[in-house]
Amino acid sequence: MTKGTATSVEHLSEAELISLLDVDLLPRHVAIIMDGNGRWAELRGLPRIAGHAEGIKSVREIITLSGELGIEALTIYAFSQENWKRPSAEINALMALLEQYLQSEMEALIEKGARFRAIGQIDWLPSSAREWVRRVERETAHLDRLLLNVALSYGGRSEIVDAVRRLAQDCKDGKVQPDEIDEAVMEGYLFTHGLPDPDLLIRTSGEARISNFLLWQLAYTEMYFTPTLWPDFRRREGLLALLEYQKRERRFGRVPGPIYPPSGL
Ligand code: IPE
Ligand code: IPE
Ligand code: MG
Repeated sequence: MTKGTATSVEHLSEAELISLLDVDLLPRHVAIIMDGNGRWAELRGLPRIAGHAEGIKSVREIITLSGELGIEALTIYAFSQENWKRPSAEINALMALLEQYLQSEMEALIEKGARFRAIGQIDWLPSSAREWVRRVERETAHLDRLLLNVALSYGGRSEIVDAVRRLAQDCKDGKVQPDEIDEAVMEGYLFTHGLPDPDLLIRTSGEARISNFLLWQLAYTEMYFTPTLWPDFRRREGLLALLEYQKRERRFGRVPGPIYPPSGL
């Protein structure tokens, strides 16, 4: 199979899609806004929570695929701070699903070598869900094949405000001098400190917005918006997103071509 073919890849098998991937050009860090569970359920005349339950199968497949391909980090948006505005019945059902997922999936995550980490206002979660979050974090803390960040009660602006608050306190305590503050120092106060920024952001369900996700970290991320609803986003769709990513030219403000200035300048 020729790499970089211009023909449509939609009809290809999963094995063919994998053979088209350039292993040297894989993203190190993929972020996903998993959207469209409610619509998936509504289209089938089911309660919204049935869409959330089906979405867990996609989570499983995408974690497995990421581990198999050797992607280093996956950051998935599971519940935003704004999602607390939903009806309490949906919030309760989502929290119950989260707890169920963590309980049933802990062994599988360990087998896949996935280190689980929650990012967000975890204190706002109901205590039993919070305890499971902490437990799975502890039990997987030694694993390093794939880092799985799950954004729960997460808001990008509040992550930045919280970072600034702690940084200001450290200045007040004399641990940091204001003129030492640069992007690297600031990055050290974020949930994702030490991780490369996401190379690729995927958002399902046709919405083309960020919804307060990773506002600092997405500065130069490639965006991939697909109409596919999250419960339908399985391995094939993951591979299509990666192939699209590999067609992008990441310029970071430079002009196309070699990244060094021509000699004589
Ligand atoms: C995403 O699906 C999951 C969460 C936000 C928890 P939605 O529940 O937002 O599904 P739609 O957008 O209403 O279809
Ligand atoms: C974003 O989806 C949050 C998650 C996927 C967890 P929403 O469905 O909450 O986003 P908006 O409200 O449509 O922007
Ligand atoms: Mg939505």
